[in-house]
Amino acid sequence: MDVRNDMDLKQRLAEETLKIDRIMRDDLAAITDTLDPQLAEILEYGLFAGGKRVRPLLTILAARMCGNEDNGVYNLAIAFEYLHGATLFHDDVIDRADTRRGRPSVQKQFGAVAAILAGDFLHAHSMALVGEFAGVDGLSLFSQVTRSMVDGEFLQLRNASNFNQSEEDYFLAISGKTALLIGAACELGALFARAQPGQQSALKTYGISLGYAFQIIDDLLDYQGDAQLTGKGLGNDLCEGKMTLPLITTMQRADAADKQWLVKTLENQLQRQQKLSQVTSMIEKYDGFGAARNKASDIINKALDALSRLKQQSNQQSFEILHGLAHYVLNRSN
Ligand code: IPE
Ligand code: IPE
Ligand code: MG
Ligand code: MG
Repeated sequence: MDVRNDMDLKQRLAEETLKIDRIMRDDLAAITDTLDPQLAEILEYGLFAGGKRVRPLLTILAARMCGNEDNGVYNLAIAFEYLHGATLFHDDVIDRADTRRGRPSVQKQFGAVAAILAGDFLHAHSMALVGEFAGVDGLSLFSQVTRSMVDGEFLQLRNASNFNQSEEDYFLAISGKTALLIGAACELGALFARAQPGQQSALKTYGISLGYAFQIIDDLLDYQGDAQLTGKGLGNDLCEGKMTLPLITTMQRADAADKQWLVKTLENQLQRQQKLSQVTSMIEKYDGFGAARNKASDIINKALDALSRLKQQSNQQSFEILHGLAHYVLNRSN
């Protein structure tokens, strides 16, 4: 199978995604009697609504890349989807987001308290799985990136009122909140496979780079995406006053008058949402979207470099899927 062919890539990913969903369902079914009925309803609602399953896919592919064919990796992989689910339940409370995966977010549908509690449950359950399937070393790594995620969110919070934010601040925040977790999804797959240290670190580098690019593109889609495809409301970042790369670049490049207009617009919390199309035009004027896309593309090249270091010793099919995923991250619309 030549998975560089887009259709083959999609087909293989669709099969893996279905399998991941099945393992999650089996896993939850095994504890369903112990769950509060509302919690069970929230998990069904929040977890099975069309997520891309990127993180568990990476864990599985990383293990396969290192020559491991054990199906136990699925149980480890779903821990990443649970942790991701927990962060999304919480993130939509934090970002006051009403839409997720094409329907009302968990916090909109069930309330913030229920969303927080269900997130806590998923977080605890994900740790138990990692402990069981990746041991103390795996759990230590998993906890480390979870702590970094919280750090990244705090940094983002602190940056929220800083309209002169630097690119460094932005990259530090997205490293914590997104990139390190995606790196760990790959690294733990390698750890599970008892890979050589060189393989493990190359997969970690691939994952972290992919994660940076993934978040940069997510931030572009927040302005330029099709809400039907992303399943999320457009302009939420602007509405929340979140400075992302296109806006940071525009702020740096803008002449004095445009910069003054932008700062005034960002300061006015109630009007930000109505100014979405004007802010978008301003970002276009200074090519802020193009600059962000170029950054993402440079970073994806680093991911591909790391991957090429593994080419010789690896499973060819998994290599090609990881290769295809790197391109997908840059061109994705969902
Ligand atoms: C959204 O993640 C949150 C970010 C880190 C950008 P995904 O885009 O992977 O969300 P789902 O799981 O496919 O819904
Ligand atoms: C999400 O970042 C990072 C997380 C740790 C969940 P965003 O706030 O940009 O993600 P979306 O756009 O809501 O999915
Ligand atoms: Mg959000
Ligand atoms: Mg976003």
